Order: sequence, then C-alpha cells, then structure tokens
Amino acid sequence: MNAYELIKKKRDGSELSEAEINYLVGGFVNGQIPDYQMAAFLMAVYFNGMSVRECCDLTMAMVESGDVIDLSQINGFKVDKHSTGGVGDTTTLVLAPLVAASGGIVAKMTGRELGHTGGTVDKLASIPGMNLELTKEEFIRIVNTVHVSLIAPTSRLAPADKHIYALRNVTATVDSIPLIASSIMSKKLAAGADGIVLDVKTGAGAFMPKYEDAVELAKTMVNIGECAGKKVVALITGMEQPLGNAIGNAIEVQEAIDTLGGKGPRDLVDLVLELGSMMLVISGIASSGSTARKKLETHIAEKKGLKKLAELIKAQGGNPEVIENSDLLPQPKLKIEIISEASGYVEKINALEVGMASRILGAGRKTKSEPIDPSIGILLKQKVGERVHKGEPLAVFYSDGDRQKIAAATSKFLSAYTIGDQPVEPPKLFYARVIGDNIEEFS
Ligand code: URA
Ligand code: CA
Repeated sequence: MNAYELIKKKRDGSELSEAEINYLVGGFVNGQIPDYQMAAFLMAVYFNGMSVRECCDLTMAMVESGDVIDLSQINGFKVDKHSTGGVGDTTTLVLAPLVAASGGIVAKMTGRELGHTGGTVDKLASIPGMNLELTKEEFIRIVNTVHVSLIAPTSRLAPADKHIYALRNVTATVDSIPLIASSIMSKKLAAGADGIVLDVKTGAGAFMPKYEDAVELAKTMVNIGECAGKKVVALITGMEQPLGNAIGNAIEVQEAIDTLGGKGPRDLVDLVLELGSMMLVISGIASSGSTARKKLETHIAEKKGLKKLAELIKAQGGNPEVIENSDLLPQPKLKIEIISEASGYVEKINALEVGMASRILGAGRKTKSEPIDPSIGILLKQKVGERVHKGEPLAVFYSDGDRQKIAAATSKFLSAYTIGDQPVEPPKLFYARVIGDNIEEFS
C-alpha cells in the first residue's frame, strides 16, 4: 500500500477499504505520510465524498488514534449531547443538570473554544472555585453520586482529528460533510457515552447555513453513531438569531440559572425541552417525547434542575451560592445600553455579527493561549419580532470599559440588526428530527 495509490484511487472516485483508511490515518499521525499527501487526499474527499462505510472507518481510525474514555464504572446509560455551534448557545448548562435531575446520566467532556465566546468549559470556569480538570476517578465518583459532571477534554482525545483539522483549515477542505461528520463523531465516540443527541444548526448564524446540508450532516453523523453501536439521534434547529438573550461566559451561567429557575427566554426553554426529551427517550427513561417533556417541565417548575446544578457546582469545588446570589459571579466594570437608532419591528438579527461584536468586546479568544474575561458579554433586550422605539435599548454590553473595543463592538452590533416597518414572526426554531433513516420534519 502507498499513499500515492490511495490518493489516486479516491481522486478517481473509488471507495477505499478499511485497511486503506487506517493506513492513511495511522501513517499521517506517526509522520510517515507527509502533509502534502494528506492534503491531496482530503481534497479528493472534498470533491468525491465518501460512502457511509468509509465515513465510519475514517471516524473509527481517528477514535483509535488516541484514548477512548472508559465509562464502564459508571452505572446506567450515559447520554451526551453535541451542538454544531451557534451564538449564545447556553443549552448544555441547562440541559446537563436538568436531564440528570430527571433520571439521566450525563458524563460529559465539553470544549474550550476559539469562538465568539468561550466554550461550555469556559462558561463554567466563571463560577468561583469550579474545577474542570478532574482526575478520571473524581469524574467517575461524581457521576455515580450526582449523575452529572462536566469536564474539559483530555488532549489525547482523537489526536488524528486535531492534526487533520489543522490541515483542512489551511487547505480549504473544512466544509466537506463526510470530513465534518467524521471529525465531530470521532471526538464524541472517544468520550465514551452510550447515546448522543446531536443539535445540528441551520440558518444564517450556523456552521451549515443550508437546510439540505444540515440534513445531510445529521444523517451522516447518525449513521456513523449506529456503525459504532451507539444510539444517536439528531435535531435540526434554526440559528437565525442568537439563542436566548445572553452571549458571553458568566452572563450565560446566569441565563442558565434563570432558565432552570423557570425564568428562561422562550427559545432557549423550547430547545432545552426538545433536546432533553430526546436524551431521556434514548436513555430509556421515558417511553415517549411527550412524557419526557412533562417530566422536564415539572422539574423546572419544582426547581429540581436548579438544585442539581448546585450539587454539580459543589461537587466540582465551586461555590453553589452563585445560584442565589448573582453578585458572586464575575461582574463587568461597566454596563452600557446600546440604543436603537430607529423605531419599528426587529426583522432580523445576524447571529454571526452579534457573535463578532461579543468577541470584539472580549468575550472570546483570538488565539488559543489568550485568557477570557468571564464578566464580558452582551445581553439582548430585543429579539426578532419585537417592537422597538427609537432611543430604547436593543442590548446591554457587559464591558471592561475599553472605549476602543466598545466603539468597534457597537458598530458591529448595530449592523447586525435590521429594523423594518412591518410586523414579523420570530424565526423557525425546529426543522426536523433525524431518527434512524427517518427524517420527521416539523410543520
Ligand atoms: N467541528 C468539528 O469538530 N469538526 C469539523 O470538521 C467542523 C466543525
Ligand atoms: Ca444564550
């Protein structure tokens, strides 16, 4: 076997065998196959795609390049959730404790990111004392007692994906559905859960803006999960405007606390109920989506999810009093209202631009080593469909007081809003469920 022949085979549209895929991935990771050959192979995949079988083999080759987390000492069905990203996506912070309070078991590794804001780990790190780098023994002990733990991933999780992704990033081969699906699933499968609910975003603020592409990505990931013997289902949801009202780190922790306390923004609550229902159903805890949803709604009303969040924080060394007293979360130097320059109805909010504005303010990283100021963020006061008057605030910036950042973020933020004369409906949130080979579209 040699790399040249395998590149040529893929270039000419043939399928590679499992052994051939293992040869390429293994050879690339151990340095025997150079970047230029891997890059040529990735470009051939970009143009010719991959069969489901090839995607499964590629995923498993990447999983096996590193550690596979062994969760067998945790009793019961371990359920995970993954979102393909968006702006202000606070769902994990709400879902993990709520699902655990409802009988699910959530042993989750979650990212630190180079995004508009930090990843879920960065958001949780804004809670004073919170330890996100537990030993394996502590992690397992906490999941067995509290039924939920959230930690940062180890660096040995699917290292082949890390190297391949870095190469894709500089060779214009990121946006290939088989490569994205294998990349995401390699990390999820290495993290060891028995079942995974995927939230695949579509729309202007999403990684996969076109609905047809989001469906294809969801189907491919569900198929890969099934090859690996896991229960995997997907939900396709809209990311036309930021989710909920908070975009940042500590500010999203506060939003999660509010949501678990029954005072969450409608879109975030709806998404949590839908994803949470799917998690309870695949865990075998609820027999139908509607019984699962009732259970989750009751547990929000009775504050059981909030109590679970307090237990989780305490178990990981954090101060659970943040739940009662928001002053204990990092506070910004300055809060500034961003005022509407027009009267009318909010027609559109470009999620990506709001994300960029929050990054300019300092809520996200520009380089891997950059620290994040957890107190910074944006709180939206007006979402799509709402009526606004000139002079009213569209949002509040949580800022470190840096005038230059504020000015740049303000102009970015204002350009994200379209205000028109005609009333508009809020954008569609739920598009479809992908379960096995079925696609159930929402009406
Ligand atoms: N996220 C990933 O983890 N991998 C991709 O390829 C794209 C997005
Ligand atoms: Ca949010």
